[in-house]
Formats: sequence, C-alpha cells, structure tokens
Amino acid sequence: MHFNHLLFEIQDEVAWVSLHRPEKLNALNRALLEELHQLFSELRNQEKVRVIVLTGSGEKAFVAGADISEFASFNSEEGRALAQKGQEEVFDFIAKMNTPVIAAINGYALGGGLELALACHIRIATTTARLGLPEASLGLIPGYGGTQRLAQIIGRGRATEMILSCRMLGAEEALGYGLVSQVVAPENLMATAAEWAERLLKNAPQAQAQAIKAIDANYTTPASGFKVEQKLFGDCFDTADFKEGTSAFLEKRKADFSRE
Ligand code: COA
Repeated sequence: MHFNHLLFEIQDEVAWVSLHRPEKLNALNRALLEELHQLFSELRNQEKVRVIVLTGSGEKAFVAGADISEFASFNSEEGRALAQKGQEEVFDFIAKMNTPVIAAINGYALGGGLELALACHIRIATTTARLGLPEASLGLIPGYGGTQRLAQIIGRGRATEMILSCRMLGAEEALGYGLVSQVVAPENLMATAAEWAERLLKNAPQAQAQAIKAIDANYTTPASGFKVEQKLFGDCFDTADFKEGTSAFLEKRKADFSRE
C-alpha cells in the first residue's frame, strides 16, 4: 500500500499510523480521509495487527480539523453528503473496528481532529495538546459524530459547553473532563502509547472485539442522533453565518456574527 498523507509501519502486532500533512496541521482533506478508509479497511482484515496507534506528524498538531478550504463553497446537500460519507467511511468505521485504536494526541485536536480522537477507543495526550470543537465559530456544527460521541464520553453538560463556546481545553483540563486517559510530556508520547499497546496485547483479542461491539451497541441503537447530526450539519451550509465564518478563516480575519 502506498499513501501520500499517511505514514505507517507494523511492529510486533502494533500498527503505528501518522497522519502526514504537517504543512496544513494534518487537516483532513478528501484525499487523507480516503487513505484513512483504505488503511483501516486493510488493517481490519489483518489478524496479526492487534493494536493500532494513531498520531499526527509534526510537533504542532494531531489534526487541526476538516480542511475548511475544501468545503467553503458547499451547499446543504453537499454538506450532508460530506458528513454521511465521513461518518460511514472513517469515523464510525474506526469506532467499530475489532482492533483497539489508541489516539496519541500530540498537539491541536480540533473539529474533525477531535472527532477522530473521539472515534478511537483510548486517548492519551501530550501536555501541549489543545482539544476543542470550534465548528460554531465557522457557522457549523460538528458533523463527524462530535455531537454524539463528545456527549457520550464526557457527558451532556460539558459537551454542550464545549460545542457552544468553541473553547479549547488544555491537556490537564481534558484529563479532568475524562476526555483523555493520560497526559505525558511530548517526548514520552510514543513510549506511553507503546505501554498502552503492551497492556492491551496481554488480553484476549476476540474478547476485546466483542467488548467494543457491546459497548458501542448502547450508543448506536437506535442510530438516530448521528443521522440528525448529518442533516443539521448540512443545513448549516445554507446560512449566512457559515459563509461569514469560513470566509473569515480563509481570509485570515475574525468572523463577525453580530446581528446589529
Ligand atoms: N483547514 C484548512 N487549513 C487549515 C486548517 C483547517 N482546518 N487548520 C490549519 N490549516 C492551515 C492554515 O490555513 C495554514 O495554511 P497556510 O500556511 O497555507 O496559510 C496552515 O494550516 C498552518 O496553520 P496556521 O493557522 O498558520 O497555524 P497557527 O499556529 O497560526 O494556528 C490553529 C493553529 C489550529 C489555531 C489554526 O490553524 C486554526 O484555527 N485552524 C482551524 C481550526 C478549525 O476551525 N478547525 C475546525 C474545522 S471544522
């Protein structure tokens, strides 16, 4: 397999995957999402891969979000399709893997980047990590499962607070919120991920696969919340706020949502 935006190697039953678009802070464009789908489809069939570790290339970011430049001109239908395809092929796909996936968050995990980490089964972070869902600052809502998974993981109150305020949490606060399991110095991130992998490798893979399925069942049956998110995410694309929010980001200025 050859990838342009992913680095990966398999070592002693662990697949180490780096999202590799560092000049754009690993923002998730179409090509990167497609490659993630291909790689995880392949890894799902490899019995000899028993743990997957996902991290971001470079020192600044895990993933700074979905690639805003790719969807700035979308209408509501295209927005809905984007959310549906992304959820099915990447975010849900990872959440439903038989193999445990560890997110090693090495910097910004924003928007789609935090949603990607939320789809993983275990999250660890560096002291430099910053986590948030800034979609509402762009006139959007999270569309890759964030409205569902963030509330499932840290509770409705804290999830609502984070999504409405677009506030970024530092690593220690994320630990307090139960958003990550451990915070370590940047230079220790990969060694800590390896310790987690070792811990997981000691236990029975078939039981782990069944546990992931059993835990997930409580949250996805019925799956209506994810569908509602897709529709409402799409609806945002028809608003003036979305036009203002995305134009402001691309023009490197502050958005003005005032109603005066
Ligand atoms: N989509 C597209 N491009 C992005 C991006 C995104 N989500 N996040 C970062 N980039 C690009 C920047 O446009 C910039 O590209 P350029 O060098 O060609 O201008 C490059 O990545 C580096 O980012 P920059 O903004 O210069 O870094 P910074 O250190 O000043 O700021 C952030 C870092 C994360 C605070 C800032 O990049 C940011 O706010 N990103 C968007 C976060 C977001 O809203 N994500 C949710 C999307 S739904």
